[in-house]
Amino acid sequence: MKFFIDTANLDQIKEAQDLGILDGVTTNPSLMAKEGIKGVNNIKQHYVNICEIVDGDVSAEVIATDFEGMIKEGEELAALHPQIVVKIPCIKAGIKAIKYLTGKNIRTNCTLIFSAGQALLAAKAGATYVSPFIGRLDDIGTDGIGLIEQIAGMFSRYGFETEVLAASVRHTMHILQCIEAGADVATCPLNAITGLLKHPLTDSGLETFLADYNKLNS
Ligand code: E4P
Repeated sequence: MKFFIDTANLDQIKEAQDLGILDGVTTNPSLMAKEGIKGVNNIKQHYVNICEIVDGDVSAEVIATDFEGMIKEGEELAALHPQIVVKIPCIKAGIKAIKYLTGKNIRTNCTLIFSAGQALLAAKAGATYVSPFIGRLDDIGTDGIGLIEQIAGMFSRYGFETEVLAASVRHTMHILQCIEAGADVATCPLNAITGLLKHPLTDSGLETFLADYNKLNS
């Protein structure tokens, strides 16, 4: 399973990249706003800055909600850097825009997916990724991980190449559940990724190894 980091914070992106396990980045307008990035040119420059830090795919989201606006913005975003994947919301105009951009060899990530039916439409339109939001489903008492399993099963059954990108991952346990559910990618906050490292037996085992070494070598 690939790891993307779900942030527009350059320090966190650098930290994940330095760890050597990062496969890409996802952003959204809320994450960009959190970093105080405003104005079209600054936003575009920020995407380029992210692409220069990481080796993998970087999702950049369109703001337009009409077909013409989405494809114009999508083409502009894709032209910024070869690593850019255009993120498009799962609405009627979005599905049409995904189909159009796919025909132009522009990769897309269909976002705000909350059902298998939405994922099917996005995959049929040729989306590179679909992003089911598991945390937001969990928040309303619906099974987010179950949706990942359902979509992964559907794509495998019908031979879709679209990758299942589990989004709205909130914690480390979600990552482990995504592995079981068959997600191709999980996009996560940095602390959910580093949480995978934590185990008390690793800490106590290392402490004993070092103490035993020091008994004979100090
Ligand atoms: C990523 O592609 C999504 O925009 C993001 O994971 C949403 O996460 P949230 O539900 O924590 O805002």
